[in-house]
Amino acid sequence: MRAAGAHPKTREISELILRAAEKARRESGEPEPELTRPVRWPVSCTVGPGLEGAIACESKVGYVNGSRGRLVYRGYDVFDLCAYSTFEEVSYLLLHGSLPTAGQLARFKSTLAQYRFLPHTMRHLMSFPVQEINAMAALRIGTSMMRQRLTWRDQEIARPAPETAIGTDEDSIPMETAPTGEEHAIYEFKRRRRAKPKGVPPTQDAASDIESCCHLIAGLATLTAGIARLRQDRLPIEPEGALGHAANFLYMMTGRRPTPEEERVMDVALILHADHGMNASTFASMVVASTLSDIYWAVGSGIAALTGPLHGGANEQVLRQLRKIGSPEAVPAWFKRARAKKRRIMGFGHRVYKTYDPRARVLGPLAKHLAGRRPGMKNLFRTATALERKVVSTLGAEKRIFPNVDFYSGLVYGAMGLPPEIFTPIFAVSRVSGWTARVLEYLQNNRIFRPRAMYVGKLDKSYVPIHRRGRNSASRRLKS
Ligand code: COA
Repeated sequence: MRAAGAHPKTREISELILRAAEKARRESGEPEPELTRPVRWPVSCTVGPGLEGAIACESKVGYVNGSRGRLVYRGYDVFDLCAYSTFEEVSYLLLHGSLPTAGQLARFKSTLAQYRFLPHTMRHLMSFPVQEINAMAALRIGTSMMRQRLTWRDQEIARPAPETAIGTDEDSIPMETAPTGEEHAIYEFKRRRRAKPKGVPPTQDAASDIESCCHLIAGLATLTAGIARLRQDRLPIEPEGALGHAANFLYMMTGRRPTPEEERVMDVALILHADHGMNASTFASMVVASTLSDIYWAVGSGIAALTGPLHGGANEQVLRQLRKIGSPEAVPAWFKRARAKKRRIMGFGHRVYKTYDPRARVLGPLAKHLAGRRPGMKNLFRTATALERKVVSTLGAEKRIFPNVDFYSGLVYGAMGLPPEIFTPIFAVSRVSGWTARVLEYLQNNRIFRPRAMYVGKLDKSYVPIHRRGRNSASRRLKS
């Protein structure tokens, strides 16, 4: 099969991915029991803390084999998808279950192009102090506001009236100067009635249709790009009709058409992060969707879960960690101190992978490929490889701790000149495909998630009136 991309630079990237795939096949670890058979409910499994080992549902969306270091989307190895495919094609695959024909892909791309233009949402988002809040918080606000605007076929998003398009004077929205208790304060978002389309199953009548998924997949890229610019005191840029998803995303962030190589690198990074089993943010999205809330709230909770430093927030922390270490020579002393303080090494370890994360196998060589492009990046990359060697030779052997997806992604984005606070939002721009695909799938046989906790507190206490409780009894108990 021919590797994707006619340009010599993009061919180089595809060849690098195929070499990483070959290495992964050679070095795959001990086989684990395959979790690839239908579940007969109720299922018996051994559950550890943090729901480790729990089987929450069946899925055909994707599969992670932690001991072999294999990642599969809808039956296709992620290495092959990186080498031969694009993010649009992979998103279609995740949502629909099969690779698109040329016609289906063209229609899907045109739907994404239509939803990529979010003038109302961007305009409203600009009324928040985006420069002062966490970029993921801004993304979450933007996602909620996308919901305010959506109709089942929101033609306005596709064809905005000129007066609603983003202009330089739209740095504020009108507000009441003297609240008079009007029924609708003029700063309220107008709500539009949504007509339910025919043939939508009852569990999907709350905006959880495929159109909303496309709206979110296209929209999160626009929002993230706009947030990146607003944080640099620049105005958001409208998408460029002729560009694909990855290229548009870079263009809307930087204001410059990316080179074929930059576009390809972003495409590969987006493919690699698109789905990853029942990770914390996917599970969070599914829990919210299982209440029949809707896909916008579900994606909003995915964004919230992804923000944490134990999940998607790690990529930003990795770069900070490497800068703090300073040089490859400083790694041994830094590592010794970190271990003495029992600190977690950011970008290492995984609940499922007990071998190299296949995504790190691609991102590592990509980071190396790009390292010479910016001052300081070569040193960071060399520091990263020294840290990798140290961790793998100690914690790898001892605790099966290896680099994960976040270890090299920040170096890749940093080499492309993207600011660190936008690394985790980029993760969300990709993972939204997995969130939406898994939510859609789960809703076909929805059952609200409701595990139980084992109660280990006391029972049968007698109520003590407040005047008889003494002073600071609660804080004494907490200290003891
Ligand atoms: N650095 C040092 N030690 C680590 C570690 C890391 N990054 N990750 C796990 N460990 C150690 C733990 O201290 C624990 O050791 P112990 O058995 O002696 O107590 C052991 O490995 C198991 O860790 P545990 O917390 O049970 O693993 P988990 O499955 O709950 O956690 C992560 C998985 C990803 C949250 C964890 O590896 C981590 O915090 N990594 C750093 C953050 C990160 O890179 N996140 C991105 C994930 S894609």
